[in-house]
Amino acid sequence: MANSNSKIIDGKLISSQIIEEIKTELKTLAVKPGLALILAGNNPASEIYVRNKEKKCKELGYYSIVERLDKAISEAQLLDLIDKLNKDSKIHGILVQFPLPKHISEMNVLEAVDYRKDVDGFHPINSGRLVIGEKCFLPCTPAGIHELLKRRKVQTSGKNVVVLGRSNIVGKPIAGILMQKNKNANATVTICHSATENISDYTKRADIIIAAIGKANFLKGDMVKNGVVIVDVGINRIEDKASEKGYKIVGDIDFDECYPKASLITPVPGGVGPMTIAMLMKNTLDSAAKKIYN
Ligand SMILES: NC(=O)c1ccc[n+]([C@@H]2O[C@H](COP(=O)([O-])OP(=O)(O)OC[C@H]3O[C@@H](n4cnc5c(N)ncnc54)[C@H](OP(=O)(O)O)[C@@H]3O)[C@@H](O)[C@H]2O)c1
Repeated sequence: MANSNSKIIDGKLISSQIIEEIKTELKTLAVKPGLALILAGNNPASEIYVRNKEKKCKELGYYSIVERLDKAISEAQLLDLIDKLNKDSKIHGILVQFPLPKHISEMNVLEAVDYRKDVDGFHPINSGRLVIGEKCFLPCTPAGIHELLKRRKVQTSGKNVVVLGRSNIVGKPIAGILMQKNKNANATVTICHSATENISDYTKRADIIIAAIGKANFLKGDMVKNGVVIVDVGINRIEDKASEKGYKIVGDIDFDECYPKASLITPVPGGVGPMTIAMLMKNTLDSAAKKIYN
């Protein structure tokens, strides 16, 4: 059991346990997992994400390639590259880092990736299978959130879960995962978004809150009930004159206010963040091992 004595859900610890499990499984796998990372343009945040993913592949001994493309690349050229990678038997996972340059349709790109190599879990076939409860690649951040809840033995069945945010990458898929009819889900899920009136009417009734809206310190202590489990997905940069950098990273939860009332809570940083890469590595391993699709 991961860090079971603390009220803090430690994503660093749990993600490192997942990485260790992957290393063990790799010893029994005849094939080397292969991941292709595609980065178009020079978005600084995307650069960091891709570098971190590449580093983790190296640490695990995966075969990895990084295609760094000029921001002027045409959609047709990008689709050609994806087609080539779809056919490359050494590659089990393809990840196209978003956002893409504006002239490229993200939907066309998502659909071009072979859904059997879609380790990011964003292809409409994987999204659709998620909703109907079929085996599929789960998107990495929601899969990481689910893993945190499972490993801290949070009971979700019959519980009121409130998801703040309805993005395709976090809000909708985590809601889809937790509403399924199985013992690790089976929750009553409510999704709140920017048009929701009186959000605290929902959050005050929630047994579990998953916040993914991108608004610093949005959820206050008086918006939650005692004993609530809180998962904070938000990554927000706010001014911090005391720090050398002049800023600090906070989540969507006002941690100081919510901590006393929560039975379990994720910190930012060190909560959901580290889980995303771990789940990407797990999806790539599962793809190489043909656990999701043959
Ligand atoms: N830890 C990780 O690995 C990880 C991964 C992905 C994202 N994130 C972080 O998680 C946060 C959310 O990311 P995202 O990509 O899901 O964001 P997004 O695409 O910007 O979506 C934000 C969602 O929050 C809703 N929202 C915005 N303001 C709101 C308000 N005041 N009240 C209620 N709902 C509100 C929006 O509603 P509408 O739909 O009505 O616009 C939208 O559904 C960001 O801080 C992001 O950096 C972290």
